[in-house]
Amino acid sequence: MPMRTYLVRLNLDIKEKNIRNALRFKAASLSIKALSRPNNKVVVLAHRGRPTKFDKPLSLRPFASLLSKSTGKKVVFIDRVAGAKKKIDGARGGSVFLLENLRFEKGERENSEKFARTLAALGDEYIMNDFATSHRSSPSTTGITKYIPSRNGEIVRNEIEALEKATKKPARPLVLIIGGAKIEDKAGTIKRLLPKTNYVLLGGGVGNTFLAASGVDVKKSLYEKGMVKSAKSLLRSRKIVYPVDFAVKGNAILDIGPETIKRYAKIIKSARTIIWAGPMGKFEDKEFRNGNDEIGKAVLRNKKAKIIIGGVDTLSSLPVRIKSQKQGNILFSTGGSAMLQFLAGKKMPAIEAAKKAKRKMTR
Ligand code: 3PG
Repeated sequence: MPMRTYLVRLNLDIKEKNIRNALRFKAASLSIKALSRPNNKVVVLAHRGRPTKFDKPLSLRPFASLLSKSTGKKVVFIDRVAGAKKKIDGARGGSVFLLENLRFEKGERENSEKFARTLAALGDEYIMNDFATSHRSSPSTTGITKYIPSRNGEIVRNEIEALEKATKKPARPLVLIIGGAKIEDKAGTIKRLLPKTNYVLLGGGVGNTFLAASGVDVKKSLYEKGMVKSAKSLLRSRKIVYPVDFAVKGNAILDIGPETIKRYAKIIKSARTIIWAGPMGKFEDKEFRNGNDEIGKAVLRNKKAKIIIGGVDTLSSLPVRIKSQKQGNILFSTGGSAMLQFLAGKKMPAIEAAKKAKRKMTR
């Protein structure tokens, strides 16, 4: 068998201090272990955050040793795409490489075709195994599939299958809980999911945007001004439930208040399907984690519902140890916005691109 180099898109968009509960890290480790063999090479393509240039705290460098530990294979870090080909080509079989945060590269950020070709030239085959970024079009998620044989990996295929199964004929009431940031992504999804849901409970930056739409002066709170208009039209639906009280520091709303928790918990108790993405407040801060903790407890207490929870922050905020993707009545997703978009029936460009490339390959 000739030596093959696999380029695998994985998700390392996590905080290295918080990998204990990071399903994404577990998925990445499993993927490397499953792919790497003495007669091949594996190159990990990944991103972290939304940098506009090199930004040290968003470097993937710390993950080389973390992945080496979790996979039992030496993972070699490459800090620039320029020059990477020589290092990869010259390496022995069994080598595993991790490329620096691809979003440090202008070509990746600007969706350049040339950069897609440069990435493709690093290997023989591309595997899309990053469900959480599969709703994005970029050289490392879609562009690359035009230039080398490509396919969706097992993690992506399993995750899609599990999400489809869990939501095929959802038991009602179906309650959607949406919080956190990435408001623009989520507001569009709420609209698409609304006909399928009975209640949409809002918190975090998403909740603040709806509060602003309802006329509350949210001052310095995290919210998306550009989405207030569409939030206003969504507010006509009685399914949308937003905070009635909140915890504030300075001029910013940072958590949901006790009355909101009570209302949300009652609805959550009655749910038979729950889909949750995005924390209810600034849960990283002890002072403002109560709302998220209480909602987390209410969700986990409901043993009668089929529960789907996604997103790196939401998972890391939970008071449970996440050992596998399925645990009892809960399905954990590696994707946040990606999970919501998939459940809302939107096309996932990266999954489609890899599928299309595979069809071409097998024709
Ligand atoms: C996520 O955290 O949802 C994924 O890593 C995608 O990140 P993005 O929203 O910055 O593209």
